[in-house]
Amino acid sequence: MEHILTEKRDGILRIEFDRADKKNAITIAMYQALADALKNASADGAVRVVLFHGKPEIYTSGNDLADFLANPPRSENAPTFQFLYALSHFDKPLVAAVSGAAVGIGTTMLLHCDLVYAAAGTRFTLPFVNLALVPEASSSFLLARLAGWPRAAELLMLGEPFTADKAREIGLVNDVVAPEKLLETAMGAAQKLASKPPAALRLTKSLMKQGVLAAIEQAMSREGKVFGERLDSPEAKEAFTAFFEKRKPDFSRFS
Ligand code: COA
Repeated sequence: MEHILTEKRDGILRIEFDRADKKNAITIAMYQALADALKNASADGAVRVVLFHGKPEIYTSGNDLADFLANPPRSENAPTFQFLYALSHFDKPLVAAVSGAAVGIGTTMLLHCDLVYAAAGTRFTLPFVNLALVPEASSSFLLARLAGWPRAAELLMLGEPFTADKAREIGLVNDVVAPEKLLETAMGAAQKLASKPPAALRLTKSLMKQGVLAAIEQAMSREGKVFGERLDSPEAKEAFTAFFEKRKPDFSRFS
């Protein structure tokens, strides 16, 4: 599919964000392609591991904001939710190699990956509140669980970019490596996983998730409902319009 490249080799499905002119912003069609790729990979015995990556200068800038306004995800069947469901329920190891910037879902999707490597210099951002939105991908639950309440509140409420070192410190990434070593490092980990007994790996992942999957689903469903309502809010209209007009949003008139 255009903008989402896939390649299956030696048990590893590589999924690449490929929309550099728009900073790899994810459209509805791209979400559908991602969801389909994961569903197919789960059923495909020749895929043992999935590896996500973007471009050296950008992992992804998150949801395509123009698409969001034109086609807000409403039903549970919306491609965005299909992707999040497929990601959070994926039964095989997920590896991510992150570089440049990871914004919004570019960061929250990492909470569902098993091994995450970041290039030094990568900037992570959870800008939901700044866009007058709320967290998604169960990040309202998972981030506090991972990083502790104050750090999750800092990242989700202030919404400021944070460094790869901070991402490692809070446990969001396994390791920070030189940019030129990123793909090699992530691919090396994927190769190791691909050589392991696949059923034992799937069972290990399933056991690790068992205590938490219901809470993830609940958080995601609550977030999805509020997120959809927020997209129609005058606050969000101001935030989105300001982004495309390349100006600072002004929330002073809202109570
Ligand atoms: N949705 C739609 N278009 C986007 C986008 C997004 N999430 N992110 C970037 N773009 C587009 C820009 O509108 C611009 O398009 P143009 O060339 O037609 O003007 C192009 O991609 C380049 O983006 P630009 O902002 O000029 O690049 P930058 O290097 O200065 O900044 C980012 C990169 C990622 C920091 C910045 O683009 C950004 O903050 N994007 C929005 C992120 C966001 O809020 N995501 C939603 C999360 S819910």
